Amino acid sequence: MDDIRFDGRVAIVTGAGAGLGRTYALALAEKGAMVVVNDLGGAPDGSGASNRAADEVVADILDAGGKAVANYDSVATKQGGDNIVKTAVDAFGKVDILINNAGILRDKSFLKLEEAEWDIVLAVHLKGAFNVAQPAFKIMKENSYGRIINTASGAGLYGNFGQVNYCAAKMGLVGLMNNICIEGARYNILCNAIAPIAASRLTKDVLPPSICEKLKPEFVTPLVLYLVSEQNTDSKMIFNCAAGWFSRTEILCAPGICLGDGKRPVKAEEVRDNWAAITSMEQGRPLANITESFGFLGSILS
Ligand code: NAI
Repeated sequence: MDDIRFDGRVAIVTGAGAGLGRTYALALAEKGAMVVVNDLGGAPDGSGASNRAADEVVADILDAGGKAVANYDSVATKQGGDNIVKTAVDAFGKVDILINNAGILRDKSFLKLEEAEWDIVLAVHLKGAFNVAQPAFKIMKENSYGRIINTASGAGLYGNFGQVNYCAAKMGLVGLMNNICIEGARYNILCNAIAPIAASRLTKDVLPPSICEKLKPEFVTPLVLYLVSEQNTDSKMIFNCAAGWFSRTEILCAPGICLGDGKRPVKAEEVRDNWAAITSMEQGRPLANITESFGFLGSILS
């Protein structure tokens, strides 16, 4: 098969001034893409702003002979999202690839979490992805081509103590992905989600240095590059990726058991007595959309 290349493709990487996003921007540019390096340049908790992070990555790309422009907007506002996409269109004429990557942390245990900490984390991760994806989708639809990555997290998929705002936002990104996939399929717009683990300023205080050395952000990059390439045709998938480990994770629907007949309400005791069948994940499978779940209702609907 041919090498994966992005010649002629325009990519937006949000939060590309550091960590994982920086590696995506550098790698995409090295493989021929024109890249919008978006970064607000704030602290890990989302406070402050600076042009420096994005400018440095753009300088690295230009020095290596690549094509890139900087954008300093926050993904957290609609205006910011619109302007990030406008930056791509003004500089390079279109958007083919969007990597929703920008992120911050405001960790607190559930009862200690303040409303403002909930709001800002949801605004950057979840609304931020929406803010950029919606105007990008419009252009991708016009061109019948799009590749989108939403950055979820194992914390959202599986849970993590002290990260209720972050976990909720990250699972929200899976929901956003589901609908982008369904509504984008007919326009060749694909979307996948990743749950990376990598050493970065967000994880340096929680991961021991010996482990950090093996969790280079660059080890996540190849999966992202493949997913946003023309060669990938898969969509609506969720991937774990860390240190060279790549695996798929899924939300499955199991057949369960039909207790009712659509005419009578089932008793709580019947639920209790059939708990093993209700909770069994045997023959569970991912569903293409909610309508498919009606298939499990079997004779109840007929
Ligand atoms: P990082 O802190 O190195 O990079 C995040 C970048 O996003 C920073 O450069 C920051 O300035 C930028 N950013 C923050 N708020 C922004 C905003 N409102 N608008 C534009 N840019 C903004 O962190 P890292 O680790 O590279 O994280 C990248 C993504 O991966 C985040 O979404 C994070 O939640 C996610 N992730 C990372 C994991 C890890 O192990 N490093 C684990 C799971 C998910």
